Amino acid sequence: MIPVTAPEFDDATLDEAVRRAIDAWGREPTQLLQVLREVQESLGFLPPPALARIASVLGVPIARVRGVVAFYSFLSAEPRGAYRVLFSDNVTDRMRGSEDRLREFGQRLWVEPGKVSQDGLVSLGRTSCVGLDDHAPALLVNGQPVPDVDAARATLLGDLILARVPLAEWPPELFVVEDHIRRADVMLTDPIRPGEAIRAALARGEADGTGPQATLEEIKAARLLGRGGAGFTTGIKWESCSRQPVTPRVVVCNADEGEPGTFKDRLLLGRYADLVFEGMTVAAWGIGASRGFVYLRGEYRFLLDALRDTLERRRREGLLGAAICGREGFDFDVQIHVGAGSYVCGEASALVESLEGKRGIPRNRPPRLAEKGYLGLPTIVNNVESYCTAALIVLHGADWFRSRGTPRSSGTKLLSVSGDCERPGVYEYPLGVTVRQVLEDAGARGTIAVQAGGPSGVCLGQDEFERRIAFEDIETGGAFIVFDGSRDMFEVARHFAHFFAEESCGFCTPCRVGTSLLRNLMDKIRDGKGSQHDLLTIEELGRLLGKASHCGLGESAAKPLLGTLRRFRPAYERRLGSSAVEPAFDLDGALARARRMTGRDDPGAHLGEAP
Ligand SMILES: Cc1cc2nc3c(=O)[nH]c(=O)nc-3n(C[C@H](O)[C@H](O)[C@H](O)COP(=O)(O)O)c2cc1C
Ligand code: SF4
Repeated sequence: MIPVTAPEFDDATLDEAVRRAIDAWGREPTQLLQVLREVQESLGFLPPPALARIASVLGVPIARVRGVVAFYSFLSAEPRGAYRVLFSDNVTDRMRGSEDRLREFGQRLWVEPGKVSQDGLVSLGRTSCVGLDDHAPALLVNGQPVPDVDAARATLLGDLILARVPLAEWPPELFVVEDHIRRADVMLTDPIRPGEAIRAALARGEADGTGPQATLEEIKAARLLGRGGAGFTTGIKWESCSRQPVTPRVVVCNADEGEPGTFKDRLLLGRYADLVFEGMTVAAWGIGASRGFVYLRGEYRFLLDALRDTLERRRREGLLGAAICGREGFDFDVQIHVGAGSYVCGEASALVESLEGKRGIPRNRPPRLAEKGYLGLPTIVNNVESYCTAALIVLHGADWFRSRGTPRSSGTKLLSVSGDCERPGVYEYPLGVTVRQVLEDAGARGTIAVQAGGPSGVCLGQDEFERRIAFEDIETGGAFIVFDGSRDMFEVARHFAHFFAEESCGFCTPCRVGTSLLRNLMDKIRDGKGSQHDLLTIEELGRLLGKASHCGLGESAAKPLLGTLRRFRPAYERRLGSSAVEPAFDLDGALARARRMTGRDDPGAHLGEAP
């Protein structure tokens, strides 16, 4: 039984929790985030005396420690429940009833979302998409994913919590996350043997005497474009990093996968970890790097132990560490850092800040990360799938790679398909596949829209289903959310507006203010108080955010609104209350206090009601 008492920690307990975290991560200030996470895993939250101890041991100001805790949504300086339940809150979860489950769950356990139950047993909340859209609705209990939470499962979870059964004794099948591989092409059907791509890279360099340059040439010849969404040319990024005079150089794998609706990296990290590390090691050989990091999103903490086991096995096999594959001087190793619930940390420079143990605020560029990245060292950041693809290119050659896809978009791409379709899951296609083909394969019927690339991608209407998933047409990191005629596209866009307002890091004014204004405008329209003027304001804000934001989050924040406004305008217009201008701010309501103080409530004391 889990005892329920107000958490109080004596000095010995606090010291022990901090000591264990420091033993695992060391005393460098760069480890601050990891140490905080680890201490929170021991204590359940981060009490102020623990923060003071961490600040002192790592030699960082307490203000910085508090700032980091406040930035990451998974860190908490307040006590939380013995069971911490976070419902995934993507549109796909809502489409499958997550809000009903959340309400029933809260009623049964006497706790409101965002609160801790009075007895301290359970805290309940929502969190951004947890990367289980093919298992929606989903939730996390103490960081463990629970997929497919239908009414029966939610009742069972409630029973287990009310009976205070420790998580380790819950039925293991509750936590099983099946991978739905629905269509496999070269990457998912033909996993390579560990070390195969590294040996191929070494052999290429030997054959033509150019060493690591041969690997860079092959990646360039393949015309590999990054799979994380922005489509930057991988070979150019790697070569530019390799030319920097400073060493050591650093290889970073972006496993943050925070874009709502994306879960293909979960599959690669869970089932194809060797391929991911193989690609990172090939990259290290190509650019002359000796340090590597995987930045694993906090929601994928459940994959950590298996990933570490794979790293350990690869060290034993001579595929990591000193003299990889017997090559003197080829030294490279990988450490896994775990994120703590921040979407913006998927942006490459914010991710590097986070790796350095700071708040994930995107950097000013220049300098580019390839020149000055992690701790000022030349650094490449690539998506999980990009590294997997790079390993295959080095093994099979650029010609093999270019034989799939379109002339401008070589190779295959993994799509995370979810929403209104019979077969949600991961689909691997040669680039150039039409939207219609994907819909057919996924068993989608009566589709009215597809959100490709998640909230920061594009909303496609029925007349665009012949368009192609390719960098010259629909560029996507892989999310592919399907909506049928039962869905209200205004509500979908409103949900995304809330997402961006929630996730804006607040660093720059256009995004901090603009995303809040967009959210408020969408709520106002939902409440029947919107006007045509508000639709114009949305368009204007969209232009402003696109031009004036500091990073891609702000640049994209209005896209789902603009896209749905263009394709589903009636869904907005039928909600408009009047054609006149309605202020987003209730000025008359704000004057209520002044009326009370002056003892007046006559018509003359109300705006617009003066005689
Ligand atoms: C707000 C925001 C979130 C992002 N999240 C991710 C992510 O979760 N995974 C990812 O690979 N790229 C993400 N990116 C793109 C990265 O900044 C970067 O372009 C990418 O990791 C480069 O890898 P690639 O060239 O292999 O695609 C994000 C960008 C922005 C602006
Ligand atoms: S655009 Fe938004 S997320 Fe990006 S730096 Fe500015 S406030 Fe932060």
